[in-house]
Amino acid sequence: MLKKSYISGVASYLPSKVITNDDLAKFVDTSDEWIFQRTGIKQRHISEGESCADLAYKSAKMAIDNSGIDINDIDGIVVATATTDVRFPAVATYVAGRLGIDCYAYDISAACAGFIFGLNVADNAIKLGQSKNVVVVGVDLFSKLVDWKDRNTCVLFGDGSGAVVLSSCEEEDDYGIFSTHIYSSGKNADLLKSYEIGKIGLHMNGKAVYKFAVKSMGDSIIDALKYNNMDKKQVDWVVPHQANLRIIESVANYIDFDMDKVIVSLQNHANTSAATIPLAMDSAIRDNKFKSGDILALTAMGSGFSWGSCLLKWK
Ligand code: UT7
Repeated sequence: MLKKSYISGVASYLPSKVITNDDLAKFVDTSDEWIFQRTGIKQRHISEGESCADLAYKSAKMAIDNSGIDINDIDGIVVATATTDVRFPAVATYVAGRLGIDCYAYDISAACAGFIFGLNVADNAIKLGQSKNVVVVGVDLFSKLVDWKDRNTCVLFGDGSGAVVLSSCEEEDDYGIFSTHIYSSGKNADLLKSYEIGKIGLHMNGKAVYKFAVKSMGDSIIDALKYNNMDKKQVDWVVPHQANLRIIESVANYIDFDMDKVIVSLQNHANTSAATIPLAMDSAIRDNKFKSGDILALTAMGSGFSWGSCLLKWK
């Protein structure tokens, strides 16, 4: 019997300390007006002593609780992150240890697109019958990476984590993931990158990233629709990577999609890199937006450049 996967649980976690745009303007040459007009961001959450593994564990545990799946039935944990606490072992192994379970656990590195890449490997493992329940976490703490004196970059980011549990269902079930599509373009690798390990700060060609983000996220949704012989009119919700409201609006414009059906949560948490999609999904669930049978198109783009999409029917 052929299998596919569906999202059985979602959760997210933001550290309690909030830094508003006005707070930032006290120590870097910027303003609430500039940040809000250019990005739509109002505030970000910053970890005070909580590690990448702490944040990942919290959202993973809540996602498992929300899924109703017995924790001992989790077969694997995949953590997408660019901000690990140590070079090894993987953050995912700490999450497994804190959860008290033995299962395969590894990290993947695809920056802001990492959560979509995580869905891709977990979905494939379930389709192949290798796994029944896989936790996919997106977690990043850019607060420890950015140069807080560089106004070009520090205003954009925040810390957070989000997780889903992907569970196995039958091919004929009327819900679940239709497809995932992932892409990279290494010739753009230097346009958005951290400084060498040990150095604080990151290099970003903001305008090039902006342009590429709009086209790549838009095209990845169009590819997913074509692959599944579906039309954008069938899509109920687009859940895009939350980096900049102007980018999100431009993606909606590029694919000719109504902004009322695009999930936006970045005003509350800024760009949390791999965590933005599950954070946005969790906020939409709290707002009772997703109904059974809704078609969701998730898309993200980030450093690499790497990007991708996931098309699914909500259970
Ligand atoms: O997940 C991917 C992560 N990265 C991104 O998503 C970044 C994508 N790019 C962007 O979001 C936008 O390019 C930015 C928000 C980064 C910048 O917006 P922009 O409209 O492209 O602004 P700009 O680069 O043209 O900068 C305009 C001005 C510059 O001043 P001058 O040279 O015109 O005098 C900057 O120095 O704004 C200045 N500026 C700031 N001013 C106040 C740059 N950052 C700030 C700041 N506060 N924080």
